Amino acid sequence: MLPSTSDIPSSLYRDLIHLATLAPSGHNTQPWYFTLGDRCIHLHPDQSRRLPVVDADDHALWISLGCALENLAIAARCASFSPRIQPQLTEHPVLSVYLDPSDTPPSPADLALQEAMAQRQSTRCAYDPRAIPADHLQRLTQASQQAGVQMRLFSTPDAMKPFIAWVREGNRQQFSDRAFVEELMQWIRFSHREVQRHQDGIPSRAIGMPYVPRWLGKRLMTWFATPQSQAQQFEQRIHQSSALLLFIADHHDRLHWVNLGRSFQRVALTATNLDLKHAHLNMPCEVVSVRSQMQQHFGLGEAQPLLLIRLGYANAMTRSPRRSLDAVIQAGTDGPS
Ligand SMILES: Cc1cc2nc3c(=O)[nH]c(=O)nc-3n(C[C@H](O)[C@H](O)[C@H](O)COP(=O)(O)O)c2cc1C
Repeated sequence: MLPSTSDIPSSLYRDLIHLATLAPSGHNTQPWYFTLGDRCIHLHPDQSRRLPVVDADDHALWISLGCALENLAIAARCASFSPRIQPQLTEHPVLSVYLDPSDTPPSPADLALQEAMAQRQSTRCAYDPRAIPADHLQRLTQASQQAGVQMRLFSTPDAMKPFIAWVREGNRQQFSDRAFVEELMQWIRFSHREVQRHQDGIPSRAIGMPYVPRWLGKRLMTWFATPQSQAQQFEQRIHQSSALLLFIADHHDRLHWVNLGRSFQRVALTATNLDLKHAHLNMPCEVVSVRSQMQQHFGLGEAQPLLLIRLGYANAMTRSPRRSLDAVIQAGTDGPS
């Protein structure tokens, strides 16, 4: 049960938080919980859902929170509020969204983005790589605008080519690292029952594998997800992409990671409305030595390339679950009880 705060009905808070939770997150950890203030929703990081191997500095955790924050801000505008966002990112970090009243009706653009929230998904299959119309590319670029964040778009085979070697090397290093593979397997849900029990993690069907008992799923992964096979598969995925998007944070700190998440989320929702599918090819961003190669290649200086996304046309796949609202809304403002 939600405490009643001021004149906003608790069902409205629940609706807004539900939309926030539809945001993507690394390994679908959903590393967040929410508390309520007076006309305010606080979005907190859930440190128990960190990914210490693949995301040792928590940048992906904060990008995920940025995605949820963006959904919350869009949903608040659609509910006729003027959301005021206050990030507090040092000790006891929290992203607060104050629901100030607004006289402005929701814009058609926001309503369309909100509509896309339940449709958006990470779609990890092969794509039809037909060209994306120029006006659609322009809409994606417009959607990405965010202080301290750059999005670069690569939409020809020549422009996409350098990423093949980086994705190969990132994959090779990650899948040769036992700790990385162990952590990944912990978050794969190999059966329908596991999906229902945990309501988080990545259903094996969402990565193109059938549901099988866990012992078998782990063996299949060990046999088939070798550094070589993964590198080969992702090279093909690049050839099958209409475009690649590289999201770059001007500085390596929490505020820039959150802002990058906001930018990415708007692009992902816009792509969904344009009937485009997207999936992550983050391995070269996650392996620091490969990330440095990209930094140098593009002359980025201190700026960090943190998300690599492929775009193309495909049918939807199995959806990834979300935890219930009761599991993510906490009483009080001091953290999970
Ligand atoms: C910061 C971040 C990093 C991610 N990294 C990867 C990745 O490396 N590989 C991948 O397949 N998906 C990646 N994803 C996608 C998540 O696995 C996906 O969002 C999650 O499983 C929920 O599924 P959904 O996006 O379909 O709702 C990432 C998402 C975020 C926000």
